[in-house]
Amino acid sequence: MCGIIGFTGYADAKKVMIDGLTALEYRGYDSAGIAFFEENGIKTLKTIGKVSVLADKVAKEVVAKTSESTCGIGHTRWATHGGVTDTNAHPHTSGKVTLIHNGIIENYRELELSLKESGRTPVSQTDTEIAALLIDSLYDGDAIKTIKKAVELLEGAYAFCIMFADQPDIIYSLRNSSPLVACHTKEGSIIASDMVALIDYSKDYFVVPEMHVVILKRDSISLTDLDGNEVSPRMLHVNWDMTAAKKGGYPHFMLKEIHEQPDSLRNTILPRIQNKLPDFTADNIPDSLFDGISRIIITACGTAMHAGLIGKVMLERLLRFPVTVEIASEFRYQDPIIDKSTLVITISQSGETADTLAALKLAKEYGASTLSIVNVKGSSIARESDYVLYTHAGPEIAVASTKAYTAQLSCLYLLAFRFAYATGKLEKEKCIEEMHELLNMIPALEETISFDKKIEEISKQLTEKEDLFFIGRGLDYALSCEGSIKLKEISYIHSEAYAAGELKHGTLSLVTEGVPVVALATQQKVYSKMISNIREVKARNAFVVLITMKGQEAEPSIYDYHITLPEVKDTYAPFLAAIVLQLLAYYTSLHRGLNVDQPRNLAKSVTVE
Ligand code: F6R
Repeated sequence: MCGIIGFTGYADAKKVMIDGLTALEYRGYDSAGIAFFEENGIKTLKTIGKVSVLADKVAKEVVAKTSESTCGIGHTRWATHGGVTDTNAHPHTSGKVTLIHNGIIENYRELELSLKESGRTPVSQTDTEIAALLIDSLYDGDAIKTIKKAVELLEGAYAFCIMFADQPDIIYSLRNSSPLVACHTKEGSIIASDMVALIDYSKDYFVVPEMHVVILKRDSISLTDLDGNEVSPRMLHVNWDMTAAKKGGYPHFMLKEIHEQPDSLRNTILPRIQNKLPDFTADNIPDSLFDGISRIIITACGTAMHAGLIGKVMLERLLRFPVTVEIASEFRYQDPIIDKSTLVITISQSGETADTLAALKLAKEYGASTLSIVNVKGSSIARESDYVLYTHAGPEIAVASTKAYTAQLSCLYLLAFRFAYATGKLEKEKCIEEMHELLNMIPALEETISFDKKIEEISKQLTEKEDLFFIGRGLDYALSCEGSIKLKEISYIHSEAYAAGELKHGTLSLVTEGVPVVALATQQKVYSKMISNIREVKARNAFVVLITMKGQEAEPSIYDYHITLPEVKDTYAPFLAAIVLQLLAYYTSLHRGLNVDQPRNLAKSVTVE
């Protein structure tokens, strides 16, 4: 949450920052600001609203002949401490220090009180300004020593870019938990919260190690520990380019990302099928991973956690030992029962979700083996885990996760099949057949995307509704949870997901005339039970959208709309049905006139607890 960028070099810093903040805007869009060195010192421009509002403000300044600048820092905010006001927007300045921050300073109240005693009073309500006051109070001309002293006093998560007024054209950065990536190119040195802000300049970059200081100068970038000892950064390379992070002709990132799913699935699955079998040799995940393991815990947040719910069904079904799915923000405070015989799987698109990262660290403390399914290369969760399975979904920009979710599912399926095979619970021929089915799912998924006109038509019936239910059994119930979050987060329509058999134990009282119920009935084993549940809601005059597989008969009297998914084995139906639910959420949001990619109050990459 919050996007930050710092640049010093030979190009127009204001342009680099505005372009970078535009790419980073998915991380927060309450307010934005930049600060840059100019002839007379550091100038700050900030405003509530989107980066485009800041860009207009900057353009006016350029017309007003603000001097050129080649060094600056920029921020796009997702408010945590203090409301959305110009004053609370970053950057914040105290004396010689101007900084931007992503994260939360947990002990800012105590620090504020002690700073007030020495006559330093903030003008904003932010925790960030306290960090600026603190660093300024400690600054004696030696930036690294000052940063070290500040770090000893600061508690919480942070990524900072700091400019000192008496050190023109230099930026100091450091991080604890919150992400930062950096690179040096012929244009200069650049650092940001995410690679999407760097990719125009370089595909080679490094992830800033925690508690290290990056010193960005026009001609060099260097990394030191907190004692000032130089450290060599570990360089990484991305294999996507800027077109992947642009809308490419689609009206919204979300729609583009929905359409990218066949490719992201191919990229994630194909390298992991060798000799027709799932294979993790190239991921360095040995078959011995399951030696001595008697239990799996999957922990994640939001959509990633919903992928875990599907993974649980698959892993339990194939491996025959207990799998539980835990919400990371709960798990970390529950004194969980974990030991060396537990495998903890964390799932995260960003690889930076604060609660998931903390849950992973806790699992390691308890001695569990850890494996993460992560989209962002080199991210904190990836680096903390014993083993990593990267989803190759490419950058996901829309706040609502789509292609990362199905890529996560594919990794969980591959894991379940590989380890069922490796532990002798699934015969080789059967495993080969399943890989064939998994690959067959991709063209069927492509066909499902082509149902979008019909799904749009259905969505028009939902735009005025206030409540909606998703129901299903087994894999369909797990998918219902995802359908529900997708709809509510971008359409702002209240929705709930229910195990279909559970409705009559209370919730059915809410199902009255016209209440929409999206009923997923793709699973053969429970199909007739599901149809009975649908009859129950239809008997209360619900507005039923039924989703079944080709070949599953349903009488027209039990639905208002019926979507028939292309034929695949029902194990793979969640991939196809996910597309329907994503498109349904997308078009409902669109027809309600909302900001599909940047829903209110949310941001991608939740780096605060
Ligand atoms: C919903 C959504 C969120 C994320 C959650 C975890 O569409 O995107 O629920 O899934 O914030 O984020 P990651 O996967 O980055 O850990």
